[in-house]
Amino acid sequence: MQQIDIIKAPVAQYVEDFHSQFDEILSTKSEWLAEAIQRLNASTGKKVRPILVALIAGMLRGGDPPKESIDAAVLLELIHTATLIHDDVIDEASTRRGQPTLNVLFDNRVAILMGDFILSSALIGAIALGNLEVIQIVSSIGRELTEGEIRQFESAERLHLSEENYYDIIRQKTAVLFASCARIAAIMTGAGNKDKERLNKVGELLGMAFQIRDDIFDYYRSDVGKPTGNDLREGKVTLPLLYALSTVQGEAEETELLQLLSERPITETAVARLTDFALSHGGITYAEERLLDYIREAKQLLNLYPDSPYRTSLLALADYIGERNI
Ligand code: IPE
Ligand code: IPE
Ligand code: MG
Ligand code: MG
Repeated sequence: MQQIDIIKAPVAQYVEDFHSQFDEILSTKSEWLAEAIQRLNASTGKKVRPILVALIAGMLRGGDPPKESIDAAVLLELIHTATLIHDDVIDEASTRRGQPTLNVLFDNRVAILMGDFILSSALIGAIALGNLEVIQIVSSIGRELTEGEIRQFESAERLHLSEENYYDIIRQKTAVLFASCARIAAIMTGAGNKDKERLNKVGELLGMAFQIRDDIFDYYRSDVGKPTGNDLREGKVTLPLLYALSTVQGEAEETELLQLLSERPITETAVARLTDFALSHGGITYAEERLLDYIREAKQLLNLYPDSPYRTSLLALADYIGERNI
């Protein structure tokens, strides 16, 4: 059994119900959309966000998560799915989850519309929950996420990105969704402010670690089901290179690296040189240390809750997010 399957064991039935509701909400009259949705379902992702919702709701309730929390998990995963479809158009990516992307199978125009359809389905799901607090959170996710992606483009235009600036961007583009998953799970169990704030923080910390791991993949892994080296090709400097650049001693080397980064389009030789530089100057080790700091902090907060199978799985989920290799 995979580590993720062990993690979701206490909420196995929940995950099954999640899948059927996810299919149901996306029923469509369009042949192309139906084909796209079928393909999406055939190569589902890790489902980390719905599992996070289920485990938090289970932990707070001390038993099976409430039914409405499944509806919430569905709409949050729909937002994630729509984001990935749009992100692949933006990044001109040809593979995702080991399969061709919708922008390749159809084209950019159709993929954008499909992303919009899925996003609109998520909003219908949010309204159906009839909870104003949830609607408020869900509507701000889209804004945060897109602002984060735009800020990443802006920073690709600048050669000097501070580490603080990097964290701020990944918080917006990735950690806000994780934080919202955790907070909404708490809301679904009728939790008070203290739990909502604390679990929001847990989600945010896990989201930060999740994106740093993803950014590390971009430097060296070739088997994660999506293209690697893509961030650098777009001039996006993430933590490993950011750190490596901060260690540069000689002026000549700094000038050379900044010159490579400012090329448009960035050549494959430049991508290879920058990748090697990040690897040989401790960029991966540094990024891994930072992501483990986030995981450690998240686990400390989770340990404030009484022991239960849900909490055990949440702690294991935190480790998985830190160590995952896909
Ligand atoms: C990819 O998310 C986008 C990032 C935030 C890095 P996932 O790695 O959760 O994607 P799937 O759903 O498992 O494919
Ligand atoms: C963007 O991050 C995903 C969002 C959170 C919008 P990436 O561009 O790094 O995601 P992948 O690597 O394509 O999955
Ligand atoms: Mg991408
Ligand atoms: Mg990435």
